Amino acid sequence: MTETTIEPYLRNAWYLGAWSDEVADGGHLARTIMSQPLVFFRGPDGKAAALEDRCCHRGAPLTHGNVVEAGIECGYHGLIFDGSGQCVSIPGADSIPPQTKVRSYPVVERQEFIWIWMGDAERADESKIIDYPHHDDHAKWPHCKQWLPIESNYMMMVDNLMDLTHLAYVHAKTIGGNPQAHSRAEVDSRETDTGAHYIRWMEDATPPPTYQKAVGFEGNVDRWWDFEFVAPSSVIQWNGAVDVGKGARENQDQPGFHLRLFHSATPETDTTFHYFWSAANGYQQDDPEATDVLYSEIAPTFLEDKMIMEGQQARIDLDPDRPLVTIPSDKALTHARTAIRRLIAEERAELAQAAE
Ligand code: FES
Ligand SMILES: [Fe+2]
Repeated sequence: MTETTIEPYLRNAWYLGAWSDEVADGGHLARTIMSQPLVFFRGPDGKAAALEDRCCHRGAPLTHGNVVEAGIECGYHGLIFDGSGQCVSIPGADSIPPQTKVRSYPVVERQEFIWIWMGDAERADESKIIDYPHHDDHAKWPHCKQWLPIESNYMMMVDNLMDLTHLAYVHAKTIGGNPQAHSRAEVDSRETDTGAHYIRWMEDATPPPTYQKAVGFEGNVDRWWDFEFVAPSSVIQWNGAVDVGKGARENQDQPGFHLRLFHSATPETDTTFHYFWSAANGYQQDDPEATDVLYSEIAPTFLEDKMIMEGQQARIDLDPDRPLVTIPSDKALTHARTAIRRLIAEERAELAQAAE
């Protein structure tokens, strides 16, 4: 089997459009998703909205304008649009023709995410949004987060996270470790209905110094790395360790060392994406500095990944159709790629059937 790098998109799906705090009251955010320039802002009720970033009057970008009481005001001739995209004010006009509107996209704000649906609005089903309750629980999961623009296809992020053998090479100067540790590890990987999942266990192991320091383990631990790819483009990560003999495999959710990461890759164009990550400290919740330290340790590792992904894309762009080679450690990555292809094929078949 060969792996090409440019995946088409799943259209009818929720993508992470922005972190909640990127869209300030009274401000707006310019962001391109799937080659569509968008403006995110909050209406007078504080509700997040996303519109096509193109005024229906003369085509000016709405992001050149300002958020006013009634909505977003175009910076060219002052038309104002509300969160549904409807024009609510035309300077000098007594009435507003109903076709004076711009396209709006369904958005749902919850758990510090602003999710956006780029496909057919009628199909937007909120029940399909990933549930990530840890963001709501600041006491148990104090966390930090970031948006990072990356110049590569969005699936590079999924590839990167579904294969941890890169840690020893890409992150040799940071979180690295022994090159053999991950490549020889037994990994249990499978496709799921919504993507792919893998878990890697290291049993009866000496806890790494950071785990030791944070939790004060007295002896060896059972450690795991748990990664779930959820289509279209999120990866949910849970690293943990508990004392040996406490039945970690049967119950991971018990006191010990816990670190949760949420990753989402939202396509900006075919060859660029928005990387959103959050990291939740589940080991030293009472120490306010611990989460800052976590950020300062983890943020540089994403820059290391960024450099690799952008380098890959630059080379692949020179010869995009040339197939890539698959090696044994690509098992989980291959499950993720197979899953996204299957879901895209299903969506296409469904749309073709609907069009008949
Ligand atoms: S282009 Fe927007 S008001 Fe004229
Ligand atoms: Fe990495």
